[in-house]
This record gives sequence, C-alpha cells and structure tokens, in this order.
Amino acid sequence: MRIIVAVTGASGSIYAYSLIRSLHQLGIETYVIATGAGENVLRYECGLELQEIAEYATVLSNQDLFAPVASGSFCTDGMVVIPCSMNTLGAIANGMGDTLLSRAASVMLKEKRRLVIVPRESPLHIIHLENMLRVARAGADIMPASPGFYNHPSEIWELVNFMNARVLDAFGIEHELMKRWGEA
Ligand SMILES: Cc1cc2nc3c(=O)[nH]c(=O)nc-3n(C[C@H](O)[C@H](O)[C@H](O)COP(=O)(O)O)c2cc1C
Repeated sequence: MRIIVAVTGASGSIYAYSLIRSLHQLGIETYVIATGAGENVLRYECGLELQEIAEYATVLSNQDLFAPVASGSFCTDGMVVIPCSMNTLGAIANGMGDTLLSRAASVMLKEKRRLVIVPRESPLHIIHLENMLRVARAGADIMPASPGFYNHPSEIWELVNFMNARVLDAFGIEHELMKRWGEA
C-alpha cells in the first residue's frame, strides 16, 4: 500500500507527525509533501525539522513537479492533507496544480482515488465552507480536526490518535490506535 501525506501550515502538525510514524510502523509506503508554512509550523509546534521525518517516509519537495506523485500513472492508494490550511484547501478547491501538493491532490480527484482532507481553522467563513463543499463534491472526504471526547481522553496523544484512527479507517488500514465504541 502507498499513501501520500501532505502537511500544511495549519495548526496541528502533531497529527501529521504521528500519522507518518503510525504508517511507518504499519509497514505502509509513505510519501510526504510539506508546504513551506507546514515546515515552519512543524518546527514551531513540534520542535521538529522536516528532515527528521525522512526516517519514517520519503520526503518530496513541494517544488518538484517531476516527482512520481505528480502523475496519475504512478499508482497510489490515496492522499491525506493533514492538517489542511484554508490556503491549501482553496488551492485544491480551485484545481490548482502549481505545487507538488496541489498537483498530487488534483491527481487523486481526477483518478478517483481517495483524498482525505483534515481542515483546521476556526471560525470558518463562507468561502472556507464553500471550498469544503466543492472538494467534497469532487470526491474528497472532509474529516475536520475535531476529535471526540467520548473515550475520556486525558492526554494529547489520545486526541491525536482519535483523529488518526479515523484517517486510517478511511483507507481501510487495520490499526489499534483507539478503542472503538462498543469495545470492552
Ligand atoms: C502557528 C501558526 C498556526 C496557524 N494555524 C492555522 C490554522 O489552523 N488554519 C489555517 O488555515 N491557517 C493557519 N495558519 C496560517 C497558515 O500557515 C498560512 O495561511 C499559510 O499561508 C498556509 O500556507 P500553506 O497552505 O501553503 O501551508 C497558521 C499560521 C501559524 C504561523
């Protein structure tokens, strides 16, 4: 299985870092694309450099439009944009393809592959909402970064795992990141 993880400059880089580590542990071939703002927020919020992620995944340059994931002929099982900024959401909603991230997302939509978008912003204005509707109509899954609290989390990693469990579920990847509702 092959997944693309895109990291943007929205708050919540910890979701991406944790997801990339989980995919690595699960033996899934993972490609990472980060925007410049994504790299900066990862450093600010997690104290991590993008290069440190190369231990768990293949890191691609967002400027490299010659990378394999820029083409639909390169087979992948899908892509997740986590966390997704309103800027990147707007680019995807408008079919942009001037960066590797927006091009790869556009490839997912045109090839009818799974595109999971984990947006993070609050409050949302009407253009954000319209962009979400637009990408959802084009076939993307909108999975807001809004973890549930019914498992009584007491640590940040539990909230992170809650979200990432839903992302892995969307790709049909088996995991044990959280206790499912109804499980003892
Ligand atoms: C610490 C920090 C947190 C941010 N959080 C968000 C956020 O949650 N959602 C959002 O849409 N933008 C957020 N931004 C603004 C984006 O980083 C900014 O709009 C940027 O241009 C996004 O670029 P990108 O889409 O290329 O990553 C944040 C910026 C900083 C510095």
